[in-house]
Amino acid sequence: MASGPGLIDELLAKRAGEQFGLHERYLNEQMVRVLRTIGFQRDYVEARGPYLFDSDGGRTLDLLTGFGVFALGRNHPKVVQALQEVLAADLPSLVQMDVTLLAGLLAERLVATTPPALDRVFFANSGTETVEAALKFARYATGRPGLVYCEHGYHGLTLGALSVNGEGIFQDGFGPYLPGCRRVPFDDLEALERALAGRDVAAFIVEPIQGHGVHVPSDDYLREAARLCREAGTLFVADEIQCGLGRTGRMWAVEHWEVEPDMICTAKALSGGFVPVGAVLLRGAIFDAVFSNMVRAPVHGSTFAKNNLAMAAGLATIDVIVGEGLVERARRVGESMLDGLRAMIPEFEFLHDVRGLGMMQALEFGPPKSLKLRAAWTLLEKATSGLFCQMVTIPLFRDHHILCQTAGHDQNVIKFLPTLTLSEEDRDDVLSAVRQVVADTHRVPGSVWDLGKTLAGHALSARSGRA
Ligand SMILES: Cc1ncc(COP(=O)(O)O)c(C=O)c1O
Repeated sequence: MASGPGLIDELLAKRAGEQFGLHERYLNEQMVRVLRTIGFQRDYVEARGPYLFDSDGGRTLDLLTGFGVFALGRNHPKVVQALQEVLAADLPSLVQMDVTLLAGLLAERLVATTPPALDRVFFANSGTETVEAALKFARYATGRPGLVYCEHGYHGLTLGALSVNGEGIFQDGFGPYLPGCRRVPFDDLEALERALAGRDVAAFIVEPIQGHGVHVPSDDYLREAARLCREAGTLFVADEIQCGLGRTGRMWAVEHWEVEPDMICTAKALSGGFVPVGAVLLRGAIFDAVFSNMVRAPVHGSTFAKNNLAMAAGLATIDVIVGEGLVERARRVGESMLDGLRAMIPEFEFLHDVRGLGMMQALEFGPPKSLKLRAAWTLLEKATSGLFCQMVTIPLFRDHHILCQTAGHDQNVIKFLPTLTLSEEDRDDVLSAVRQVVADTHRVPGSVWDLGKTLAGHALSARSGRA
């Protein structure tokens, strides 16, 4: 066996700190410009649990968690061990003309967590791939072309998933999209009923809690939507890629409303933060319709799906979620955090709403009542809608070492997606940091508004093509 540092150790040591230059040159230069503009360019060198550590010795509490990937925190030892075991075992992977034990075991484990009717599993490599699979399965099983989705819905960015994306910024310029897609407002049963009335709709795809904006539906929405779907012969697909696997204080968010979907899509957290993986959990009848005989055994799939590392990551992740009681923890710590944030609403004019469930949380800001503050707000909104939020996220990051971001475009909503392991101490630190930063936004003029002016300048230059 070779001694001394291997290829990656050597590269990490020799080329440390070059990432920004390399990305500017070979990858998405605009992303680097964004990071520099908002002061988020930090040289992270290590990560553990909810924390990122940088080369200056700083520690950042991560409330973005890779858009919800790091539910267990980063580098969880049980996931690391599972992956090391796979690597050490020299297992055959991706034989293709074979079936593997680990995939069977992960499917068994996932099925045990879902409503009883969802007794089959299809594995993919990412969130958007699970959505593609669900849409194809729905079309095949129903023999219908139509797909209904919600405004502000987000299901991934491959062309099928993008066809059911409810945000213009992602869709504009990439069309034409799949025919037969119809958009309805979220939380609007009448609109859904109208969209399904032609009985030509294969699937209604919906996030039980929308990631963009963190919109929680009314109490009866999902249950009634499922009923309308059943009556119209449409399959109900719950996209739980972000809100599933314990994040909202239930294993699956649909459990909050006792809804039984026909399919659940999951991904992100199932990876344990290491190996991309996704799964569609679905009714046997749908699966059997698609894979109906031996000739059809390969009609949908993907070369890397079910690889051993991904399956091991999934098995270890579920083991940790269940073994460490993370669903209950997300509910308890998450709800107390939401209570703490809600208590700030009467204190701060700009803070209009706090919403979410468990560890999926949002703060919505809006126009203040007092005239002095209103003038400042209006100027900023004129430059770019949603800019106010950066006056909160930037000081949270710069002064309080908390990483978070906005919950979508053109809206003044900040989202927190903490690890499900977040400690009470970190929760309290977040609450006190948010209080200080939001209080500062109410001081006009003040340093936060100087920052606002700079950001507005950047936004106007970007819009006029000067930056
Ligand atoms: C609800 C939802 N669906 C689908 C996706 C797409 O997942 P991926 O980025 O892994 O393709 C995301 C990603 O943010 C998501 O939040």
